[in-house]
Amino acid sequence: MSKREREHTELPIPNGWFAVAWSKDLAEGQVQRVDAFEEELVLFRGRSGKPIVLDAFCPHMGAHLAEGGMVVGDGIRCPFHGWRFDESGTCVEIPYCKRIPARARTRPWECVERNHMIFVWRHAEGKPPDWEVPSLPEFDDPSYTEPRFFDIEMPVHMQEMAENNCDPAHFATVHGNPHIPDSEMQIHENGRFFRMTSWQEAETPFGTHRVDLERDSWSLGVTSVRMKGMGEAGLLFFSSTTPIDTHTTHSRWAFTVSRNLADVAGEPFIKGMTEGVKQDLRIWKNKIHRARPVFCEADEHLAAFRKWTRQFYSHHPLDEVDEGDDPTPSEENA
Ligand code: FES
Ligand SMILES: [Fe+2]
Repeated sequence: MSKREREHTELPIPNGWFAVAWSKDLAEGQVQRVDAFEEELVLFRGRSGKPIVLDAFCPHMGAHLAEGGMVVGDGIRCPFHGWRFDESGTCVEIPYCKRIPARARTRPWECVERNHMIFVWRHAEGKPPDWEVPSLPEFDDPSYTEPRFFDIEMPVHMQEMAENNCDPAHFATVHGNPHIPDSEMQIHENGRFFRMTSWQEAETPFGTHRVDLERDSWSLGVTSVRMKGMGEAGLLFFSSTTPIDTHTTHSRWAFTVSRNLADVAGEPFIKGMTEGVKQDLRIWKNKIHRARPVFCEADEHLAAFRKWTRQFYSHHPLDEVDEGDDPTPSEENA
């Protein structure tokens, strides 16, 4: 396949809420560069404590506001000639002029802070948010540990990373798991919320139990994974995957575990997770996106997941080809 043909198989950037920073890394008055969704942005925490995101380049002469910009109130002063912008991106002061040109504004981005991360809303057609990033109760529960954080940048489209979880067969071949767990899938909230539960008998600190892994997705980017079936004990991974561009993804995970599991589950789970990602890497780095894969009958969840993800794209490669004719496992293509 030529390089040119490969490009035609690429998925675009989806719509949604995507994390662009850790809360802990942005103190009041601090400024950060953000490269996400093929955009260059400036993120800063205003004096009221609010995170604010604007287009990075000053409308005056194009300086990057994150490279030396100073936070003033809930706004930012450009490092080049000192124009000051408020949180809506409107210029409110030119230190050496009385009149402010009407076009002196930079684009604001909607922003929320949840579960130790700062999220930005991105929509290809500029539509406003139609869902909220959930606040997960474990992060405020005193019976859970302080969260741990890790993040990684991967040379892969974010959808490939998400599809992994609905692809039980690869757990045996890529990750060496002895058997494929049973799983079921549910879609709720007018089709927007996706839950995948898988279970198996497992050795736990409390004996051998059926342990359920419940994976909730609010969109392609925002996901939680909970381990259930160990009585009061619990474990939560919350993650956000952010498209930097169509072939680079920044993943962030916040992890907490009930205190009665802290000693046994903390390190091994994080290690297991990062090792797993490394095993997937060689496949991800070199694969192409098949818009119409040849599915077999065991790919039922994968096919359903693909279908579900279409709603998060303003433009999808399959739109022009066959509106409504999603790839589903069938005898014909099995
Ligand atoms: S470039 Fe920003 S004030 Fe001149
Ligand atoms: Fe994997």
